[in-house]
Amino acid sequence: MLRRLLLLLLGTLLLSVCLDGTSGIPVPDERQVNGTVGGSVLLTALIPPGKAVAEIEWNFQLQDDTVLVIAEFTKGNFGRPDPGDRFQQRLERANETTLRLKNLVKEDSGVYTAHVTFESGEAPTQTFRLVVSGTSKAIEQWNLLVCLFIIAMPFLT
Ligand SMILES: *[C@@H]1O[C@H](CO)[C@@H](O)[C@H](O)[C@H]1NC(C)=O
Ligand SMILES: *[C@@H]1O[C@H](CO)[C@@H](O)[C@H](O)[C@H]1NC(C)=O
Repeated sequence: MLRRLLLLLLGTLLLSVCLDGTSGIPVPDERQVNGTVGGSVLLTALIPPGKAVAEIEWNFQLQDDTVLVIAEFTKGNFGRPDPGDRFQQRLERANETTLRLKNLVKEDSGVYTAHVTFESGEAPTQTFRLVVSGTSKAIEQWNLLVCLFIIAMPFLT
């Protein structure tokens, strides 16, 4: 009886460990983008119909709240103000409004902003929260299955 109880406790503990990291709390006015280590993601600035874009400046917010300009889209051009930054060759312009981040590493997780300047002069900012997880969804699900099995064990023996 005690053994079963202990196993049950252990199972519950393991389950909470297994579920950790899958419970992201979304913040309003931000779009969450999910990626996995080694994969790539697209950040797309939303442009209202009829608006002409003059420029898009892409920023990454560092841990200490300083802001790194990582890319600039101007008419037909892709600029990298500091090609030696932590993103190196991992940034691309997917189309006029979309930035692609390749070969993701966990440290890419964080807040990105697209500072869009319209030809009319307005310059709204769009915010993305990138979450790079270490494992793919399939592996997460497999882990969950193993956890559930461990929890069920005391009842099977
Ligand atoms: C990203 O993951 C969170 C939970 O991990 C989920 O709520 C959200 O819908 C996902 N977003 C996208 C765009 O897949
Ligand atoms: C750019 O690519 C994104 C993501 O694939 C897509 O949603 C968007 O419609 C594209 N925009 C243009 C102007 O092609």
